[in-house]
Amino acid sequence: MRYGQPLCRLGMDHPRPPHANRLRPRSVDTLNRERQLAVDFIAAAAGGPTIYLGRDMKISHRGMGITKADYAAFMRCLSVTLDTFKVPEPERSEVVAFTTTLESEIVEGSSKTG
Ligand code: HEM
Repeated sequence: MRYGQPLCRLGMDHPRPPHANRLRPRSVDTLNRERQLAVDFIAAAAGGPTIYLGRDMKISHRGMGITKADYAAFMRCLSVTLDTFKVPEPERSEVVAFTTTLESEIVEGSSKTG
């Protein structure tokens, strides 16, 4: 997914990255691993020829205390990235709709994560 790296980069350059206080220093290898897992996750969910070998979203994010506000900031970064790459419809709406469905798995304290 050609906009995986920019989305990650955008998230990092955010004035108050949504995950600022949740990101311990990471090695280049760890960042590359997480980027590839995120790319595989979205590509597999979109029916692409990839297999996602990572953990589920609930387990991967549990304990980070990600809030609805963090998630809204992430969605704004996603929107800017989709604009930057001029992602056309219907793909754009499909990516946004898919990412929205993950909120209850990733945001702590939402009914589903308890
Ligand atoms: C505010 C939003 C988000 C924040 C702050 C965030 C942060 C993180 C962090 C810090 C990790 C590394 C966890 C660890 O192993 O220590 C992680 C893993 C991951 N995240 Fe997120 N994330 C967010 C939203 C998302 C979304 C929307 C997706 C999917 C589109 C996603 C997909 C993944 C994947 C695939 C992994 C790797 C799972 C694994 O290691 O098995 N994240 N996230």
